[in-house]
Amino acid sequence: MMMIRSVIRSCSFFVSMLLFVLSISDLLVKIHGHGFGINYGQIANNLPLPSQVAVLIKSLNVSKIKLYDADPNVLVAFSESNVEFVIGLGNEYLENMTNPSKAQTWIQQHVQPYFSQTKITCITVGNEVFNSNDTQLMLNLLPAMQTVHDALVSLGLDQQVTVTTAHSFNTLSNSYPPSSGAFREDLVQYIQPLLDFHAQINSPFLINAYPFFTYKDNPNIIPLNYVLFQPNQGTVDPNTNLHYDNMLYAQIDAVYAAIKQMGHDDIQVRISETGWPSNGDPEEVGATPQNAALYNGNLLKRIEQKQGTPAKPLVPIDIYVFALFNEDLKPGPASERNYGLYYPNGNPVYNIELKGYLPQMPMAAKSNILSVNIFLCIVTSFIFALELSRW
Ligand SMILES: *[C@@H]1O[C@H](CO)[C@@H](O)[C@H](O)[C@H]1NC(C)=O
Ligand SMILES: *[C@@H]1O[C@H](CO)[C@@H](O)[C@H](O)[C@H]1NC(C)=O
Ligand SMILES: *[C@@H]1O[C@H](CO)[C@@H](O)[C@H](O)[C@H]1NC(C)=O
Repeated sequence: MMMIRSVIRSCSFFVSMLLFVLSISDLLVKIHGHGFGINYGQIANNLPLPSQVAVLIKSLNVSKIKLYDADPNVLVAFSESNVEFVIGLGNEYLENMTNPSKAQTWIQQHVQPYFSQTKITCITVGNEVFNSNDTQLMLNLLPAMQTVHDALVSLGLDQQVTVTTAHSFNTLSNSYPPSSGAFREDLVQYIQPLLDFHAQINSPFLINAYPFFTYKDNPNIIPLNYVLFQPNQGTVDPNTNLHYDNMLYAQIDAVYAAIKQMGHDDIQVRISETGWPSNGDPEEVGATPQNAALYNGNLLKRIEQKQGTPAKPLVPIDIYVFALFNEDLKPGPASERNYGLYYPNGNPVYNIELKGYLPQMPMAAKSNILSVNIFLCIVTSFIFALELSRW
């Protein structure tokens, strides 16, 4: 009985701990309760296990994740989670994906086994293909997308899983003022049929947009507040009289204008990547934790408010922040390795507004202890109830 009592005491301690943890996470959930997505890039050798990442994501109430591949470990870790997944086929797959039987096999191996447990809603076929100098890759893009879509149709998955690709903002030759947005002349031959395909299957046009790049190239011309969503005068598009208080919205509307110029106003634009680095090389002006916190914090607030852009006020912006973690193996300037909201150890890189900080990532070991204790509590209460019923 002594033993049972002490177990009960520790049990009630854990119950109150549990309630405490739950009420904290409830608070966080309320604060972070918005429909933003996040890019879960894995070009690193030090990232936490997908099961740990699943705990972190849950505490953030992030509802959408974008992967650059179809990592089965991640898809399994998020089974039964309610998180919606965009998965990716890298550029190296495009040639094979123009072959119907290879496309079908890929879906059978990478989508179907996880599909019943994990919400896979979209496949991006290729990433920033028009930013490569590879004409063959550009020629393969649309056939690969069509073939993957056809394979989804024949497997009966096309209603749940859509097909698209993600573009660099550099596919535009003109983006200012937003109403005169236009695609690069040399890409029109590829983009016109691509847009027709998007309209036909009703899939979104994805763009990776980084006001940071524009700012860092012109820090003396572009007001920092305008790119960070801070109070500022903004700009007015002389053709439409629409007022822009931030660069990202201007970029999104420039993409809508470019698409419209090619005869389509039936395609939704979504932001597959945007973000701000917390660190960079000395010449990468603006890459600081303070700016990154303002950019991402202010952006999340706007997502929470379900804002649309000036040209599409009724279409809430749909955004995947880049990225969940700093990725130490990314090539290029230092900024490339510093886009994460988190360090690989689960600590936030900076505190983003909303409630001031992102929660620490609970370690998997701790949550195992917690679940063992919950289990013990249940067993103990059961024994206790048995004891009582005997009396
Ligand atoms: C979590 O976020 C979703 C949007 O993704 C929102 O609908 C839901 O209300 C949020 N949950 C809470 C408890 O805030
Ligand atoms: C493309 O298909 C060939 C032949 O089936 C295979 O050997 C190759 O590994 C595939 N390429 C990729 C990137 O999967
Ligand atoms: C494409 O070619 C241009 C000019 O040759 C070069 O400056 C650029 O870095 C290349 N881009 C890629 C992604 O290889």
